[in-house]
Amino acid sequence: MTDIDSLTDAKATARLKWLAMEIALHDAAYHGADAPTISDAEYDALRRENLALEQAFPHLIQPNSPEARVGAGVSDAFAKVAHRLPMLSLGNAFHAGDVTEFDERVRRFLSLERDAPLAYTAEPKIDGLALALRYENGALAEAATRGDGRTGENVTTNARTIANIPETLTGKNVPEVFEVRGEVYMSHADFAALNARAEEDGGKIFANPRNAAAGSLRQLDSKITASRPLHFFAYGWGDVSTVPGETQAAVLTAISDWGLTVNPAMKLCNGPVALVAYHAEIEAQRATLGYDIDGVVYKVDRLDYQQRLGTVSRAPRWAIAHKFPAEVATTVLDDIEIQVGRTGSLTPVAKLRPVTVGGVVVSNATLHNEDYIAGIGGDGQPIRDGIDLRVGDTVQVRRAGDVIPQVISVDLEKRVRDSEKFTFPDTCPQCGSAAERVEGEARRRCVGAMICPAQAIEALRHWVSRDAADIEGLGIKQVEAFWQDGWVREIADIYTLEANHGAALRTREGWGEKSAVNLFAAIEARRTLPFARFLYGLGIRHVGRTTAAMLGRAYGDWASFEAAMIAVAGGDEPAREMLLGIDGVGSVLVDTLASVFGEAMTLDRLTRLREHVTIEDAEAVAAGGIFSGKTVVFTGTLEHTSRAEAKAKAESLGAKVAGSVSAKTDYVVAGTAAGSKLKKAETLGVVILSEDDWLRMASEG
Ligand code: IVH
Repeated sequence: MTDIDSLTDAKATARLKWLAMEIALHDAAYHGADAPTISDAEYDALRRENLALEQAFPHLIQPNSPEARVGAGVSDAFAKVAHRLPMLSLGNAFHAGDVTEFDERVRRFLSLERDAPLAYTAEPKIDGLALALRYENGALAEAATRGDGRTGENVTTNARTIANIPETLTGKNVPEVFEVRGEVYMSHADFAALNARAEEDGGKIFANPRNAAAGSLRQLDSKITASRPLHFFAYGWGDVSTVPGETQAAVLTAISDWGLTVNPAMKLCNGPVALVAYHAEIEAQRATLGYDIDGVVYKVDRLDYQQRLGTVSRAPRWAIAHKFPAEVATTVLDDIEIQVGRTGSLTPVAKLRPVTVGGVVVSNATLHNEDYIAGIGGDGQPIRDGIDLRVGDTVQVRRAGDVIPQVISVDLEKRVRDSEKFTFPDTCPQCGSAAERVEGEARRRCVGAMICPAQAIEALRHWVSRDAADIEGLGIKQVEAFWQDGWVREIADIYTLEANHGAALRTREGWGEKSAVNLFAAIEARRTLPFARFLYGLGIRHVGRTTAAMLGRAYGDWASFEAAMIAVAGGDEPAREMLLGIDGVGSVLVDTLASVFGEAMTLDRLTRLREHVTIEDAEAVAAGGIFSGKTVVFTGTLEHTSRAEAKAKAESLGAKVAGSVSAKTDYVVAGTAAGSKLKKAETLGVVILSEDDWLRMASEG
């Protein structure tokens, strides 16, 4: 988290803009695609930082502030339902102190004495998805997801398949209209069985029960929903003709009497101490509840108080979610494997006895580098100083995002007797070359370069990747297979594949005339490359897309660049000065380029590659490149690329990406459902590009 006090307005604005974009992306991944990319705790941290910044800099609140939005958009696949009353979200508490503050806030608002009785309902916060069930004259009339809080998706047919959602409400005093709100979820056992089946039949594997529930409810074919065991807990209500009670607890009792399920763990608590005790009680039961929860929810019990307290931006003042910390699991470190990357860096990976962390089975975790294993502290390294990691150790794993789990601590009491310190290899496990550690660097590197299969394959994979030569049909599997067979050992070999192995490829297993011809055509199409793509494709350390483009702009054509680099490698001072003089070039990059262009083998490979690939002059590209120096605004939903990717791409082409349209805007790229920005652009006469226009123009540089 940024140190807020030391921020200037400009920095705070930049951070708020970034947070708005980042949070929106995560919202979309979480709600839209049912596939979150960070952990809830990390997401909450982003939200907290945003809120803190907005409080410190209220004049800088962005128009697209995450605080003004609830959830994510609505998919086109279902009919839309406008919620008669918005489906709100909840504010969060993380510590006991936040709960006390919440209680104090409520009391202050209601002008209650510190010790006046104030009851709250407390219940688990189910990690599923919200659903509104509209009953008319006791019959289920409509079921809608939350969507963006105002408009949801009509999933009535699917909701009817959920066993504990009654078709009709029974019992006394069922109101004419009653909209029940609650959470749809999948139990741990059902989730595990569903994934096990999917694994057998090659179906979709879900990352966690929440995604499985969301994916199951949002099926176009309700037979599929019916085959998925979903459950529903009622926790509230929306539009109703009569409220059957004067307290939250009384209404939920009525809802339960009508045949819906209310969480049996719900309890009435008096004051913050009782609330915090409830939190601890539920946290202790978390592992045995049988379904995922991510905290508990407290609600002021008296409805007249709820009414008076009302709502602020997206959340009611009368309720709060008290979250649990990020999920951690204990398991055994079975092995430490060393992986070798494209630039030869050796990365240790923990092979863990499979364990479920927040619904995801984790069996690998990054160990970063050798110091991390040795227990030598470094930047943000969570293992305590001086405590090393050993094979056989009992360790705690945290899912820091759904992608890369972390080993965060070792249980020394459970350390196996006779266990040995892990010896980090000083040779490359792939090719046996020396693995050296340069002073000041955290990683060891294999010096084997292209004789190292791991590096060679990674280098080839990088060359064919989207932002480099972008050769369709040549993925990691194909590259690996061609390398193993000796067909493609260096980049130049890709371009002689047809001449040398054309006939063999056409009859190779898994290939045929058509796929071979397609591949040759894809390779053919990339015999001419812009300078920046060519240089980036070489996979030189520290030369990312932006740096490659920058070097292109500085030297213009490849021959001049290569000659200059060879001169730098040979110790030519003026050449070095010229390189260092380029804005954004530092001595680390200069040294790297010098060592790469000082190697005879690299130069030979480059010469061979250049026999097959024509490199366009960077100046020519820049002059023709219409985005250079221009201001671009993206709006609407992009179908083929993410906002973040489009932005990075535009910037790499020299454009400035802005958030709003003004007279200074040169281009507006309008995706689907573009709204006010598009209108403004039309009014101002700004050039409007479709996503396809953008992709085509961007790919041409
Ligand atoms: S009350 C006006 N109670 O959490 C209050 N929400 O972060 C609205 N949730 O959208 C929500 N369990 O999907 C409430 N016992 C519970 C809940 C709960 C899960 C979800 C719900 C809501 C989200 C808010």
